[in-house]
Amino acid sequence: MEEKYQDEFEEFLKALENGEVTAEYDGKEISEAVCPANGSGKGDNNEENNSIVSLLQEIQKEHHYLPADVLKEVAEKRNIPLMDIYSVATFYKSFSLEPVGKHKIVCCSGTACHVRGGKKITGEISRLLKIKPGETSKDRLFSLETVSCLGACALAPLVVVDGEYCGNMATSRIESFLEERLPLQKE
Ligand code: FES
Repeated sequence: MEEKYQDEFEEFLKALENGEVTAEYDGKEISEAVCPANGSGKGDNNEENNSIVSLLQEIQKEHHYLPADVLKEVAEKRNIPLMDIYSVATFYKSFSLEPVGKHKIVCCSGTACHVRGGKKITGEISRLLKIKPGETSKDRLFSLETVSCLGACALAPLVVVDGEYCGNMATSRIESFLEERLPLQKE
């Protein structure tokens, strides 16, 4: 494991031991597909990493994130060091160790989007959903993220809602835009 992950991993382990990161896990049985009883998970490095990625994809598909206690159980049953699993889980941005919302909103904060009002749009979405970038709403309906560039700068400012690219966004139309796609709850 790279050194930069070591501290994070130790914190992760401590939180796992204290039960701090398991509260959201609903206790579902781990499916046979994720954790076959006789699987060893051993092989050469590439093969092993690919195998871990596949495992993590299955877990995330089932839970929408990677619950810590599921990772621990898989590590034990597949005989893979938990550190290796954690390392892969934190390397790929598509994996999340935190619960994520049913609907994912990604705001671009790259230069092209920023100069065309991206920050205000993120602020407005944040206000409407009552969550900050990096957070998930308590009801687990929404997650809000920012990324540095989505690679479609001609569409700036850009917002992605559940994978749908929505370019040339404006603060004046963000509310109606979200209402058309998401179950916004007003007070
Ligand atoms: S800066 Fe926003 S898509 Fe590139």
